Amino acid sequence: MLVDGVAHRTIWLAPDGWSVEIIDQTRLPHGFVTLRLETVAQAAHAIASMQVRGAPLIGATAGYGMALAMREDSTDSGLRSAYERLMATRPTAVNLRWALDDMKSRLSPLSPGDRAAAAYARATQICDEDVAINRGIGGYGLGLIQAAQQRKGGETVNILTHCNAGWLATVDWGTATAPIYMAHDAGIPVHVWVDETRPRNQGASLTAWELGHHGVPHTVIADNVGGHLMQHGMVDLCITGTDRTTATGDVCNKIGTYLKALAAHDNGVPFYVGLPSPTIDWTLQDGVAQIPIEQRDGAEVSQMTGRTADGRIETVTITPDGSPVANYAFDVTPARLVSGLITERGIASASHDGLKALFPEQE
Ligand code: MRU
Repeated sequence: MLVDGVAHRTIWLAPDGWSVEIIDQTRLPHGFVTLRLETVAQAAHAIASMQVRGAPLIGATAGYGMALAMREDSTDSGLRSAYERLMATRPTAVNLRWALDDMKSRLSPLSPGDRAAAAYARATQICDEDVAINRGIGGYGLGLIQAAQQRKGGETVNILTHCNAGWLATVDWGTATAPIYMAHDAGIPVHVWVDETRPRNQGASLTAWELGHHGVPHTVIADNVGGHLMQHGMVDLCITGTDRTTATGDVCNKIGTYLKALAAHDNGVPFYVGLPSPTIDWTLQDGVAQIPIEQRDGAEVSQMTGRTADGRIETVTITPDGSPVANYAFDVTPARLVSGLITERGIASASHDGLKALFPEQE
């Protein structure tokens, strides 16, 4: 998507043909800075520190991380240790496991001398596949926005989203945002309510930034505002992303998503989820009981970082000294609260039958 009018992806091979470039998302929205990854250690650090984040981009970075690792040590033990190192970075987004399992199963049978080239080829393919998947999600989600516009007699469609499930969370297009970008590009009037998304502020810092660069009208709101807006008919549709969706349609996403789904349910507002197929965990049946929820450093809750009036980036503490903090990074929205899962193959009901109808090859 566009940054200052120039098309970008979030991850790409550098001109040297082997190192990997990323947008450092910890610097947004106040600085657009790219970084070069040259080692698997740097790829692992980029994921763990959230220089890259969002389930699909975590998977893509892990793919390239394996490629960088194969340059360093392509023996069986090198393959194993790269897999384990990358797998340990973040626990919730299943795209990480999906990408690493995919890479390992393709690289293991090869001789060590062939592994690096094969790893680069597959990592690049994973990125291209992600873009195609998101385009597919965009096309199906666009139909929902068109229908909402018709229901409203052509008026602006107000969409609420949580966290950043935009192009910054993927390789391009985003999942929740792909339908929005397509609607905007097609001339459908859309306006996005952007949940701030404490504690890391992915909404305020990232979603607002990318929507702004693409010219999509939006308003940043504090996390607790959505219910009020829904009670007053100011939200036509919620669309969020997901880090892991069970085979039964339970949706794990950024902390606070569940509360938005409850408010949407109570107010009859449709609640949709952009779901790329690599984010489906076909091994799980019960999201609340089975999905591992990442707990991150409490400093993300007790501190906030921002730009001062004179342009300096500063971090301040907002809690009393000594107050304990807890930082649960994700929650699970039960399938019963989800109106539909927008996949690259169509919109599924949030249920085992719904997902199986679109992905019959998964048994
Ligand atoms: O902690 P993050 O920023 O990696 O969390 C990201 C989300 O929760 C996104 O909504 C999710 O990964 C879907 S991205 C298309």
